[in-house]
Amino acid sequence: MKTIHSITELRQQLDAERAAGKRVALVPTMGNLHEGHLRLVDQARDNADIVVTSIFVNPLQFGENEDLDAYPRTLANDEAKLASRGCHYVFAPSDTEMYPQGREGQCQVYVPTISAMHCGASRPGHFQGVTTVVCKLFGIVQPDVAIFGEKDFQQLLVIRKMAEDLYLPVEIQGAPIARDDRQLALSSRNGYLTAEELEIAPALNRALREARSAILQGRRDYDQLAEDAQQSLEQAGFSRDYFNIVRRNDLQKATAADAEIVILAAAYLGKARLIDNQEIDIPAA
Ligand code: PAF
Repeated sequence: MKTIHSITELRQQLDAERAAGKRVALVPTMGNLHEGHLRLVDQARDNADIVVTSIFVNPLQFGENEDLDAYPRTLANDEAKLASRGCHYVFAPSDTEMYPQGREGQCQVYVPTISAMHCGASRPGHFQGVTTVVCKLFGIVQPDVAIFGEKDFQQLLVIRKMAEDLYLPVEIQGAPIARDDRQLALSSRNGYLTAEELEIAPALNRALREARSAILQGRRDYDQLAEDAQQSLEQAGFSRDYFNIVRRNDLQKATAADAEIVILAAAYLGKARLIDNQEIDIPAA
């Protein structure tokens, strides 16, 4: 495995791989890797000959009061983990390599509507930062396939729409959420939790699964169901962000007529903002 910091060098290496007929996969990350990221690498290896994992804490997707400075930078550890899973290239650019003219003059990519709801409403500008950096990474790596975790369900949809609308020649694949044995979704932000908060954290997935069961048993008063879930999360020790029962294709509010649903949830616990989701297919009556 080779770690590369420069765009020019990465392009030279990947041009040679492509010239040899190799299919290239990209796993975009911000580092501080856990088993969830490594499963994206496994999926990338199953779908391509060459796996590139990018590690870049993208300043453009952090709001003013968010954790950009505190976000853990753990390159040596990440490299060891990636090597153990058969990654071929780590692309770890600096801020100036990615934004040579600074961030102010950077051309930006914005996916309307879907970027403004849910996490986008709580974190204005976040998805514009994500789509801008992911579009740049696609331009740099020119992957045949790119893998994103389904924990960030909205991010995956926003990126799919960007790739479709801009005719980007890359297949976007989602990868199932990796969880610990108490069903807590693995996340770099779990590292912000105290021992006590780690005991509380699985309540987020529990609330999602309870709402899912209620829907499968026939409940359709989605606003009340979401409010009940928010209250149970508050009782468990979370502070509210959102708990939204939405259509899977466009993330608009679900109605009783919709069959393909996802519940998206985000909640604050201590210093961490945790997100999770549950998909539901309502069988025809
Ligand atoms: O999901 C993430 O870690 C980031 O949003 C991504 C896709 C690497 C873009 O910075």
